[in-house]
Amino acid sequence: MLSKKVSKKLESLQTPFYLYDMDLLRLTLESAVSMAARYGYVLHYAIKANYDPRVLALIKEYGLGIDCASGNEVACAIEAGFDPKKIVYAGVGKRDHEMKYAIEKGLYAINCESIEELYVLNDFAAAAGKTVDVGLRVNPDIDPMTNHCIDTGQADSKFGISYEEVLARAEDIKSLKNLNVKGMHLHIGSQIRELHVFEYLCDKVNVIVENLVKLGFKLDYVDVGGGLGINYDMPENEPVPNFASVFAIINSHLKVGGREVHFEFGRAIVGECGELITRVLFNKTTATGRKLVIVDSSMTELIRPALYGAYHSIENITSTSDKKERYTIVGTACESTDVFNESIALPETKRGDLLTIKSAGAYGQSMSSRYNLHDLPRSVYSDEI
Ligand code: LLP
Repeated sequence: MLSKKVSKKLESLQTPFYLYDMDLLRLTLESAVSMAARYGYVLHYAIKANYDPRVLALIKEYGLGIDCASGNEVACAIEAGFDPKKIVYAGVGKRDHEMKYAIEKGLYAINCESIEELYVLNDFAAAAGKTVDVGLRVNPDIDPMTNHCIDTGQADSKFGISYEEVLARAEDIKSLKNLNVKGMHLHIGSQIRELHVFEYLCDKVNVIVENLVKLGFKLDYVDVGGGLGINYDMPENEPVPNFASVFAIINSHLKVGGREVHFEFGRAIVGECGELITRVLFNKTTATGRKLVIVDSSMTELIRPALYGAYHSIENITSTSDKKERYTIVGTACESTDVFNESIALPETKRGDLLTIKSAGAYGQSMSSRYNLHDLPRSVYSDEI
């Protein structure tokens, strides 16, 4: 864990901040890219996971494309230097101005999530005098065996078009003259650790692609989304996620002819390279005997525990005490759910100590807010300290 190695240097910095281990990000990208190359897979990075400019610059260096979820994300990717022809854009609720902007930029594909969206996009494309490349985001109805708050591919989910509806409306879709249905897209959920789920995904994709082809869709690519999970419990044991296993599973189960296979990983790329470094403000004990450690960050810097009950491992990186205590780590926000971790064992923890909240590189800084008019957290990079 980087923060522990450099804790002396961190002591003088103003907290809270996100600490990025650029060497680990490099290692992770090297692993993802080299494993993908074995099978000729195309990688996109789900930019929503982290927008930090230096993180994006490194990802660009490794040649990944970008997966976006809004017009502003598309603009951010283009500003960071990514080629629009390597950008895909999904989202259940694309606003009119966002669709027009995406058409103007000529993205690799706009992944559409409803029949109505396809019709509206077709109209906008016609008005712009263009034919637009689209992917059909199909909802495959698969349980990704993850936290229910972050699953996206079950029948009742708001994401994607149901397979049944795509089949029933195939002729209508094909009649949209200003759209070129270039591929199929799926994303069933995030933080997937049960890798056999990707086998079910392949089984479904095989059937869906076969039937869409029978219905006259050409489909140059199949984008199976992101979702590969990381080890929040023991990040030290698995700093680089298991790309090799996912790709091997997909390679042995997916039967999509010579079509390109695309992935859109977010968390697996950036999750482990980021830590939230925060300082202890106060200690107190509740009337019920709970020992609270109040730190100088909160759900406004890292909302995952408050929003999903997500677990992040926490360590005191400056205490020298041998005595262990059980503490509940709480933040500064005016919300009772602003709790980072309940009853965890830490060395005796005092005002001024630095804590690291680990595995916070994905959906940490990118989901920060200004609630309570907190300042947005800044970035500190391993090669600048
Ligand atoms: N592609 C699409 C269409 C997505 O919606 C997502 C994530 C990804 C790719 C990247 O998924 P990943 O590889 O990171 O699992 N804020 C939540 C996660 C929400 C994920 C939303 N979609 C969290 O903090 O756990």
